Amino acid sequence: MASLGVNIDHIANVRQARRSVEPDPVTHALLAELGGADGITVHLREDRRHIQDRDVELLRQTVRTRLNLEMAATAEMEAIALRIHPDMVTLVPERRQEVTTEGGLDVASQVAVLGGIVERLQGAGIGVSLFVDPVAQQLDASCATGARWVELHTGRYAEASWQEQPAELERLAGGCAIARQLGLRVNAGHGLTYANVEPVAAIEGMDELNIGHTIVARALAVGLQAAVREMRALIQNPRRDPLFGSRVP
Ligand code: PXP
Repeated sequence: MASLGVNIDHIANVRQARRSVEPDPVTHALLAELGGADGITVHLREDRRHIQDRDVELLRQTVRTRLNLEMAATAEMEAIALRIHPDMVTLVPERRQEVTTEGGLDVASQVAVLGGIVERLQGAGIGVSLFVDPVAQQLDASCATGARWVELHTGRYAEASWQEQPAELERLAGGCAIARQLGLRVNAGHGLTYANVEPVAAIEGMDELNIGHTIVARALAVGLQAAVREMRALIQNPRRDPLFGSRVP
């Protein structure tokens, strides 16, 4: 049975929309763990559009499951990973213009460079996973870097029409089988939802699914009524504590 890694980048997206202190991804990581997450994933982007360095540092101290740091294969990020020491690093491609990670990493064209990063991170005791499309060429190359994990990109499956989806599912199952034969462990993620996750979770040999956007969207759906009720209760029955106002600077 596959385990669940919860990606909390979108909690940070809401905070950064106001450059505020809430919602705090560190607090919400704990809530995700209480809900049964097997791991917490954050993507520290070069432009720091959502997760901040401070988040990763605090998460390293507070996450009790496993902390998976998604990052680009750059010298800056490698130094951060070696300093903070997450349980796992997932190397992803990154372009500033993209809304979210768009494609898999082209491992085949940079085996030597990626192999160096993999060796240094794994040498420091950090597991390394490469986010790749489920194709033999990229999986062979991933194996050649020395990485022990791959994360299969499920974006094409998630975006496919219902007519195309069975073929995309086959590609994922085939990619998983190839990776397993190569001795790699297999995660998958991107664009998975409550509607499309089950066939992917049922693929033989799948270790972990990393899921973010749909869980945060669902949290709003199941939590908004209670949040509004709490605010209405304060407005309808405000505190009349004489010290309350004087405590506000
Ligand atoms: N895995 C990787 C490598 C990703 O880049 C992302 C998106 O940040 C995810 C999983 C989670 O994708 P989603 O937010 O669509 O569930």
